[in-house]
Order: sequence, then C-alpha cells, then structure tokens
Amino acid sequence: TGRHSFLVVANRLPCRRAADAWRASPGGLVATLAPVATRHSAGWIGWSGIADDDTDPGEHAGMTLIPVRLSAAEVTAHYEGFANSTIWPLYHDNVIAPRFSRSWWESHQQVNRRFAEAVAASAAPGARVWVHDYQLQLVPQMVRRLRPDVRIGFFCHIPFPPVGLFAQLPWRAEVLSGLLGADVIGFQRRADVENFTAACIRLLGIDPRAEGRIVEAYPVSVDSAHITALARDAERQDEPERIRADLGDPQTVLLGIDRLDHTKGILERLLAVEELFDTGALDPVTTRLVQIAVPSREAIPAYRDLRAEVERTVGRINGKFAGLGGASIHYLHRDYPFESVVAWYLAADVLLATSLRDGMNLVAKEYVAARRGRGGVLVLSEFAGAADELTEALIVNPHDRDALGAAITRAVRMESGGAHTRIEAMAATVADRSLCAWATRFLDDLESVSPAALTVP
Ligand code: G6P
Repeated sequence: TGRHSFLVVANRLPCRRAADAWRASPGGLVATLAPVATRHSAGWIGWSGIADDDTDPGEHAGMTLIPVRLSAAEVTAHYEGFANSTIWPLYHDNVIAPRFSRSWWESHQQVNRRFAEAVAASAAPGARVWVHDYQLQLVPQMVRRLRPDVRIGFFCHIPFPPVGLFAQLPWRAEVLSGLLGADVIGFQRRADVENFTAACIRLLGIDPRAEGRIVEAYPVSVDSAHITALARDAERQDEPERIRADLGDPQTVLLGIDRLDHTKGILERLLAVEELFDTGALDPVTTRLVQIAVPSREAIPAYRDLRAEVERTVGRINGKFAGLGGASIHYLHRDYPFESVVAWYLAADVLLATSLRDGMNLVAKEYVAARRGRGGVLVLSEFAGAADELTEALIVNPHDRDALGAAITRAVRMESGGAHTRIEAMAATVADRSLCAWATRFLDDLESVSPAALTVP
C-alpha cells in the first residue's frame, strides 16, 4: 500500500507541463478541485490528456500527481467514445444522440480498472478516496473490492438523467453498481439525487441510502475571495477599460464564456441575438457580443461539426450587421488564463450563461462573485444547476427563442439600481456557500461513515 491518506481521482490531472510552463486543464472540475487538493496535500490520480504519455509529472502546487496511462486506442474508445459520445450526451438530456458501442464499453471497463488499481497502490491504510465524474463511475466498486479498508466518495459534476433516459444505457446496471461501491455519493442538484435514487430502485431494486450510504446534493461553488482579489487587480491595471476600448467603446457588452460544447447552447444564443439585431430590439452598432469558445474534445466529429456551425453562424451574422467600426460578434476560439477571464467579466454588462443542460455552470457563479459592488446582469438557463441558488438572475428557457430574446433585451435595459440589488444578493449567496464549504461538507460526510460497512452489489 502507498502513502496517501487523501486521494483525488479524476479522468484528467489538474495540469500538465507544456513547454516550460504548467498549464491548467480545461473545465469546471479542475478549477474546483485543484485548490482543494492543494490544501489537503492530496495525491491526484489522473490522465495527462496525451495518448501513450510516459512522463512522470511529479509534484505540483503541493499535490503529488499520479499519472494513469491511456493508449491511443483507449483515448478513442474510453475517452472520446464511451465517456464523451455515450455518457456525456445521455446525461445531458440527449442533447445530441448518444452512441452505444460494446467495444467502447470494454475499453471503458479496462481504463476504470487501471484507475482503481492505481488507487489501491497509492492509498494509505484507511485513506479517504474521492472519485470524480462520469468518466470513472465504475471505480468506486472496483476500489472497494481491492481495498475494503478505505472510505470512498464519489461526486458527479454533471447532471444525472431521469430514469427514462438513463434506462437506454445497455450497461445501466453495471454503472449503478459501480457507483454504489461508494460510501458517499454526491450530485449537484436535488433533482439529480432523485433521478439516481429512482434509477437504483427501479433498475436494481436497491434503495441507495440503505446500509448507511449517504446520497446527497452538494452544489459545487467557486472561491469567491480569490475572485474578488483578482477583480481588484484587474481593475487596478485598468484591464476592463482597455477591453472595452479594444471593442470600440460600445454601449453594451454581452459575454458568453463556454467550452465549445453542444450542452452550452451557443448556437441558440447566437440565433437569439441575431433576431434581436434583425428586429432592431438591439442595435448591432452599439452592442458587442463577445463569445469565448474554449476548444474542447476536438477529435470527436460531433464537436468538429458544432464548431463549423458556430463559425458559419458568427460569419453570417457579422456579414449582415458589421459596419466599418467593427463586428457585432467577437468570437474567440481559445483558452484564457483565469486572470483574463475575470477581466472579461468586469468588462461585460451582461453574462449569457444559457446552457441547454449544465451540471452547475461555474461561469455564472464566477461572474456574480467578480461583479460584487459593480452591478451587471446575469441571464441564466433554468437547466443549469446554478439556477437553484442564483434565483435573482434572469432565469430563462434557452430553447424558447422569444423568451431568450426577451431576457437579453430586459438585461440590456435593466436600470442600474435593480441590477446592483440582484448581483449583491447572488454574490452574497456565492460567498456564503464557498468552494471550501462545499469540500468540507463532502469530506465531513465521508469521515462520518464507517468503512467497509457496505456489501458490494
Ligand atoms: C466538464 C466535465 C469534466 C471535464 C471538463 C473538460 O467540466 O465535468 O469532467 O474534465 O468538462 O472536459 P475534458 O473532456 O477536456 O476533460
């Protein structure tokens, strides 16, 4: 057995060495967990993001990085296939059609087994092992078989689908049994807890709370104090003003920041803005929409198709409305360091977080934390987990183009007093329920269970 009394287990390592510098891995999971892992001097078991990578990343920011190697065939079948072309769309309300492949499933089991073996080799006796997200749902049960002495937590960062959808999965029983290997099973929303519970009862005949297992909603959060400090720095360096000047000093800046993913509703958002330009509800000369689309999963054909369609749509809209003074839509297909993202938040009058389905949507929480004391309007999808807590946002159904257009117009026209009141209320909510409190609550629950009380289903 190894020496780590606290292990984080996630598909990806939090960062990788690119040329000379460390680069953070994309997405909300890493943003959430890296500070938690650092605080606990954790071991972090994950994949580097590169096929057949043999380098040993060693220590970083107080954590020990423990790499799990994936072959090129496994990247295709487990990561691009089962995780991101089967489970990802299925768990996001079939936003595109999930594909079911028996060879992907074989590879997925094999990769999950490798992660479980890495845990078994690295965990100190009685360690706390915290497994994350939809790529590793089989790991809890596999670890329990190998190491009955450790406490196992599982947190799902994405939604858990209604049983009517989940039941499509040919390996639904195996996935549920995999998760039930954990002592604590956490989800973002109460609705996810209910969906998971219903699936266990209906498909396995098991109440997941039996045997003292904890099944709870732990809505993930952001480090509000850290964001406040970054916002102060950005302002001290006049970055928001510079961004607005670069955009041609428009009256209104709308902002979207998303991984380029079907779940994020980027096309629906672009089409709603186009219609507002068409009808004259928004002026394409004095309004700028900045859409940052962080490159994601680019080897998967559906993601390449989405990118092509987004870029065609941006081109069409700009072709129609751009004047000599610049384009109405600024489309940036790249990743930005978090410091720059905070500067973008400060430059934006309105944030459009209008996902079709989203586990949480941390961008929405980051925006309100950054805007504390500054006003600004959040337009938020009712299908994002954040809608449960950020109730003072303009909550909208992103599938309803009229409603989305009306929410954007209302956001642009909102008088500053009302905007301030709403942002302050939401910023207070985010500050009260910080990232640190989220991790503490989960880990306290994990501490409270007695290990090995469960039978492995
Ligand atoms: C979401 C998922 C994470 C994932 C991230 C980035 O936030 O919940 O598990 O790591 O997207 O996606 P990628 O496929 O690049 O790891």
